[in-house]
Amino acid sequence: MRDDSAHSGGHDVSRAMYRWRAFSYDLQLAPYEFIRHHAVQRLQLQPGQRVFDLGCGTGMSLDLLRQAVGEQGHVIAVDQCPEMIALARSRVSQAGWTNVELVCAAVEDAPLPDAADAAFFHLVHDILQSPQAVAHVLRHLKPGARLAATGLKWTAPWLAPWNALVGLFAAQSISNFDGLAAPWQPLVDHGAELQVETVLMGTLYVASGTVPPIRQPRSSHALHAVDDGAARPAANAYRA
Ligand SMILES: C[S@@+](CC[C@H](N)C(=O)[O-])C[C@H]1O[C@@H](n2cnc3c(N)ncnc32)[C@H](O)[C@@H]1O
Repeated sequence: MRDDSAHSGGHDVSRAMYRWRAFSYDLQLAPYEFIRHHAVQRLQLQPGQRVFDLGCGTGMSLDLLRQAVGEQGHVIAVDQCPEMIALARSRVSQAGWTNVELVCAAVEDAPLPDAADAAFFHLVHDILQSPQAVAHVLRHLKPGARLAATGLKWTAPWLAPWNALVGLFAAQSISNFDGLAAPWQPLVDHGAELQVETVLMGTLYVASGTVPPIRQPRSSHALHAVDDGAARPAANAYRA
């Protein structure tokens, strides 16, 4: 397991939150396991593929992901909270999995291998709302790679009691409420084509699909205006 936890950015709120939740986390998540299973299926993983698990927490997705990519495949799992990823490390070593690599780092600057086939963002709102994290992950995916993202979202305004529950759960899980109306939007802004499904009265979503079948821009700012006024990726902004 690599240890790159010395990230200097401001992720302290999230780390503190999960430091305290780590030991009861799996129990708290148990009722929502059906969403994890559904989201992993949406990734459509194939044997031999390489998949990222961003914000892997205690590693609850690892077995599903590693089974889907098989012995020849590879799971690279990243989390910035030492207490959470320590539990993932125990899970991996107890099970003797050899095709899972754990990285303790903020996703924004985690050392990722290039050309992965898929990225899994399960219940990681803070990561999806971080432009640096999303750009960094997408730069390390193959053109046409699969994506699945899940999490809380605001539901319709007239379902106020349900939105109160979303707020309650969000307050224990995320450090920033921005983007809760459509948390998958940062992936779409990078050109991802996603299908969005919702469950539990629209309070949880599963967004899945693909990144564009062309190279990712070097940066989300690598845009230029064209004659029709629309902003498009500059042709020379793609990695060779
Ligand atoms: C709600 S938990 C989800 C854990 C796991 N994906 C699951 O489904 O059980 C959110 C996780 O994201 C991690 N996290 C939040 N922001 C992060 C960031 N910028 N980089 C790495 N990990 C982050 C937290 O430490 C926490 O373990």
